[in-house]
Amino acid sequence: MSQPVTPATEDARKGDVVAATKDKGWFYSDVVKEHFFHPRNFMEDESAYADAAMGMVGSPACGDAMKVWIMVDPATERITDLKWKTFGCGSAIASTSMMSVMATENGGMTMDDARKMRPQDIMERLGGLPARKIHCSVLGDKALRAAINDWYRKAGKTDKVEVEQGRVIDKVLNVTDHDIEEAVLDGADTLLKVQAKTKVGTGDPSCIPEVENLIRFYKEKYFGA
Ligand code: FES
Repeated sequence: MSQPVTPATEDARKGDVVAATKDKGWFYSDVVKEHFFHPRNFMEDESAYADAAMGMVGSPACGDAMKVWIMVDPATERITDLKWKTFGCGSAIASTSMMSVMATENGGMTMDDARKMRPQDIMERLGGLPARKIHCSVLGDKALRAAINDWYRKAGKTDKVEVEQGRVIDKVLNVTDHDIEEAVLDGADTLLKVQAKTKVGTGDPSCIPEVENLIRFYKEKYFGA
């Protein structure tokens, strides 16, 4: 697993983002590089945020972890401050940095709006990411949604907690739509590739048409194809 990255390690990181050519699909926009080298709202002092709501997620695709802390105005339920920290790669750093800007700019998003922030919205502001790096961009907003749930739990507003539960698609192997989503985000763009990662449909072939629909849906959702 990679080490936590801080602005202090900027020089050591530079070699990681020497972009190859656009033709090879390994192009990083100037905005991505700017946020990678100068991450905004990076967590420097966790002790100062001991009372903040916090969400943590890991990526099944690469094993990396992401933590997000939020401060919220209870009267307006706007996010007044957001800090984050990750073991993830440069794309996770850049996309979470951008997500933190979007959540806190213009007086801060309401938590309702923040819950609706999509990876595509973040990528649009970043000027895109290489396709194989799109799964990195979902870590930040997933951790943000977990932090929002934590805030509502701490505030005693449990009716506002939204737990993202997967729908079981393959009842024999207990494979959910989230498992298929993660596989597509990790680059599996055909049934065979999704099956290589999840085994979906190998125990219950009757679910394969639904799996193929989901693969199409997630490809369109994340890759526009
Ligand atoms: S966060 Fe794991 S590869 Fe980007």
